[in-house]
Amino acid sequence: MHSSRKGAVPHGSDVLVIGGGIIGLVTAWRAALRGMRTALADPAPGGGAAQVAAGMLAAVTELHYGEETLLGLNVASARRYPDFVAELEEASGLETGYRACGTLAVALDADDRAHLRELHALQQRSGLDSQWLTGRECRRLEPMLAPGVRGGLRVDGDHQIDPRRLAKALLTACERAGVVFHHGWADRLSVVRERAVGAVLGDGTGLAADQVVLAGGSLSGRLAGVPEELRPPVRPVKGQVLRLTVPPAYAPFLSRTVRAVVRGSHVYLVPRADGELVVGATSEELGWDTTVTAGGVYELLRDAHELVPGITELPLTETRAGLRPGSPDNAPLLGPTALPGLHLATGHYRNGVLLTPVTGDALAHALATGELPAEARPFTPRRFTSAPVESVPQELTV
Ligand code: GLY
Repeated sequence: MHSSRKGAVPHGSDVLVIGGGIIGLVTAWRAALRGMRTALADPAPGGGAAQVAAGMLAAVTELHYGEETLLGLNVASARRYPDFVAELEEASGLETGYRACGTLAVALDADDRAHLRELHALQQRSGLDSQWLTGRECRRLEPMLAPGVRGGLRVDGDHQIDPRRLAKALLTACERAGVVFHHGWADRLSVVRERAVGAVLGDGTGLAADQVVLAGGSLSGRLAGVPEELRPPVRPVKGQVLRLTVPPAYAPFLSRTVRAVVRGSHVYLVPRADGELVVGATSEELGWDTTVTAGGVYELLRDAHELVPGITELPLTETRAGLRPGSPDNAPLLGPTALPGLHLATGHYRNGVLLTPVTGDALAHALATGELPAEARPFTPRRFTSAPVESVPQELTV
């Protein structure tokens, strides 16, 4: 571990994590477990995109062309999930809603079927486990599916977790591991002699730390004090999500996650054990707008209804929009930056929940050793900047 400069300033810690979404929380928890004195700054820890996300752990069914490097990290994190959940539930005393239920990706017309066949071929070339089913076989597995379903891919390894419960469990695990929470948003990174040394909160409080992890989700690119050339290239990608409830008389409505691409848009239905049914998600490049729109709700319900007509009978209990932290290559930015003392854990885009275990481990390793573990090295923030740290402003703010 890096040496501590405690004593010279109040609120000193070995590690300061900026951002208390699931990525910031898992980083803080894992760092604290390694014996680092860890602090976290966020006005409302446990919030963020995890309050909206459906929680699919979809390494296989979210595979996209050109993302084979990301696939390696996604698969590594999916494999880690059962042990991660067991450890987290033990540490927090809380359940996370992890459900090893599998996923069925279906096709509604000839175009969808061709697209799924291509995906299946790509999965097979990538050594992933998925099985092609006829429409009839799909309906045998999930009788609520529309009669028009033309075929599908059964992926028994793509599971789910409840991200709200995950966030709560991580928050409690952090508290129990001694993470110190500062309930304010970091306004500015503090940089002294070309090194990140902490942050200043909105109320002027200075927090000193040997190392800082910027885990601000879609807001990560907006922290003042980060040298311009090192600002994470992260943008918000809006997703509208619906929550419905399956009354006990209708259960089991669906036994696994069901998804499809309908007219080019992804739609998925994620059934929880407690009767919640999550339907997502739009994908909109609209800046920081989180309005739930009639059009968004209409499209999600229309597409979900084509897949599972009975959905319109269910109570609609919640509509909400969140912001995915998108990066230029759809992959996260993990570990040390060219500014000594500053690490990133952001840009997880569509895979934040899936990548939570591997991110916590990678960041804790990087904080302890200065290096990313081999599996996370392709995701260094340095892939977007080759610039050395030359013109870092001299600031003395803590
Ligand atoms: N991973 C699902 C989504 O981003 O909508």
